[in-house]
Amino acid sequence: MKITVLTLFPEMFNDFLSTSIVGRSISRGLAEVEFVQIRDFAHDRYRHVDDSPFGGGAGMVMKVQPVLDALNSVKQENSYTLLMSPAGTAFSQKKAHEYARKDHLIFLCGHYEGLDHRIEKYADECVSIGDYVLTGGELPAMVIMDSVIRLLRGSITEGSTEEESHENGLLEYPQYTQPADYNGDKVPDILLSGNHAKIREWRILQSLLLTREKRPDLFAKHVLSKEEEKILKKYEKEQNEK
Ligand code: ADE
Repeated sequence: MKITVLTLFPEMFNDFLSTSIVGRSISRGLAEVEFVQIRDFAHDRYRHVDDSPFGGGAGMVMKVQPVLDALNSVKQENSYTLLMSPAGTAFSQKKAHEYARKDHLIFLCGHYEGLDHRIEKYADECVSIGDYVLTGGELPAMVIMDSVIRLLRGSITEGSTEEESHENGLLEYPQYTQPADYNGDKVPDILLSGNHAKIREWRILQSLLLTREKRPDLFAKHVLSKEEEKILKKYEKEQNEK
């Protein structure tokens, strides 16, 4: 996959792109990342990329011409352009899977008060990473790149993404590692039992209970499978009998 980032601050990405799973995936050639400095497309003497908003108001707005010239310098037939904006549609694990299938992703990162609205129609999607405002689109672009790159085949162990939080609309069950007893705080016995069927059942139940408690919005949307329904009913029956 090719990734192009249009930004005024490419240096923000340095450590991110060379560290951990993302760094390894790039050095293995699973993703190739290039940067376009939007300021290189500003032609006035002071290389201005922003100006004050029409109608007044605080802050600066990024100008159409340098941004669109930067975009047009990299856009190809197979490109998919994502404009980072707090006013975009919500990013999700489902979208991460969608983007992971693209040949060429372009991340358009605004800064300051945002981009001139006329730019939006040149993007395939406006995406937000949450209901809060950041100083620019660079962190959102890194968030999305991270979640997309780790889904590329060969990035992390096959199968290890399947049971994660949000993959099936639920939060993941709790995980534990050594030691089995940390100052009296013990790992649930079932996980030490070696009984894989029982462990699987326990994990499904924990995932359901955790989601119901912490993310009732997700739980309400989730359609229980036959197996999940059976496990939850059994648990509730046991609770009632206590
Ligand atoms: N730019 C500023 N805030 C943002 C957000 N929450 N998501 C995407 N882009 C942004």
